[in-house]
Amino acid sequence: MKQESDRPSAASRRRFLQGAVVGGVAASALSRDAIAETAKAADNLPPNVPEWMKTPGDPAGSQPYGTPSEYEKNVVRHVPKNAPQYLSAASRTPLQDLDGIITPNGLFYERHHGGVPNIDPAQHRLVLHGLVEKPLIFTMEDIRRFPSQSRIHFLECSGNPIYTKPYGKTASDLVGLLSCAEWTGVSLKLVLQEAGLKPEAKWVVAEGADAAAMTRSIPIEKCLDDAMLVYSQNGERLRPQQGYPLRILLPGFEGNMNVKWLRRLKVTAEPVYSREETSKYTDLMADGVAREFTFYMEAKSIITRPSGGQRLAAPGFHEITGIAWSGHGKIRRVDISLDEGKSWQEAQLQEPILTRAITRFRFPWHWDGKPVVIQSRATDETGYVQPTLAELVSVRGENSFYHNNAIWPWRIAANGEISNAQA
Ligand code: CO
Repeated sequence: MKQESDRPSAASRRRFLQGAVVGGVAASALSRDAIAETAKAADNLPPNVPEWMKTPGDPAGSQPYGTPSEYEKNVVRHVPKNAPQYLSAASRTPLQDLDGIITPNGLFYERHHGGVPNIDPAQHRLVLHGLVEKPLIFTMEDIRRFPSQSRIHFLECSGNPIYTKPYGKTASDLVGLLSCAEWTGVSLKLVLQEAGLKPEAKWVVAEGADAAAMTRSIPIEKCLDDAMLVYSQNGERLRPQQGYPLRILLPGFEGNMNVKWLRRLKVTAEPVYSREETSKYTDLMADGVAREFTFYMEAKSIITRPSGGQRLAAPGFHEITGIAWSGHGKIRRVDISLDEGKSWQEAQLQEPILTRAITRFRFPWHWDGKPVVIQSRATDETGYVQPTLAELVSVRGENSFYHNNAIWPWRIAANGEISNAQA
């Protein structure tokens, strides 16, 4: 069993913990208040009985809807302070603070173009018309009568990040317009079959019920493959910010196409050439020609711990961990470089490794306390390898805005501080 032999021995496992056993605070560096606080905190440390054991806690059920510990209040989405936050709003998932592959609903990234509508599901309808045998109007109850399915997929904005400096300091700054959830809904193919597609049907134009009437054209092949109409996310109904009561999910496609507050599907022979697929969400190349209908998000990865804004407290054992994903399918491997990209070593992928979902990777590492640059590089099941920023710019030119899937290296200084090595 290869995995068995890869495990650290009991002796080396004890060495991971050495710091914690002798860990204390150097009092000389603290103010009088801090010393008093530290002394009080020490009352709660072994061998004492902590204060929260001495009286009963809050009664169960005091909160109708649960919230995180007050000590986690800094784990929140990052909302850019200088950007207008109404008509074109965004918030970023704090990837560097999360474990596993699922993004909690309260931390899922958001991107809106006309604010968040407040939709009464009893009054919401989905219209399906165009090149179909039988145009249909569905209530939400109708949609929920179809056989359901639940699948785990990522969603990512195609401007994650844009190509313009400064790129930012943290993993959230760089690629926080990315989240991953378990989605529940109905196969779009089933719904289209209910109406019956005419032979000329080549595209489906999806329209949202927001004030921007967000509209995108989707190739019929995707609609008949893994596309879903989604009403629930991570077990509960969609949040208003994620398209309540109904959105479309196109696994692996750029976030903008996953139209929220879905009110209309028009089956057509041609794309509609909406604003969001002509003026926006196209990629201007160096020769002045724009790439259009660039749907799939390509393979990408980032180290989330240790990462920008964090600090390594001391040399010794540190696990490098992060996330990888590809719109084209499963992640096949992730490599780690500890020498500015000169050499690479394979990381462990954590199960489950799902198609078009975030995959978590891990790499055991001993930091010797010297300055170092660390980075990750994803390869997906098609064999596509995540490029460096220089490689990407050499192909796409300098005018690109969307679809930046470059490698992001972190620089670790001798004092343990971590910064963006590409800033
Ligand atoms: Co695109």
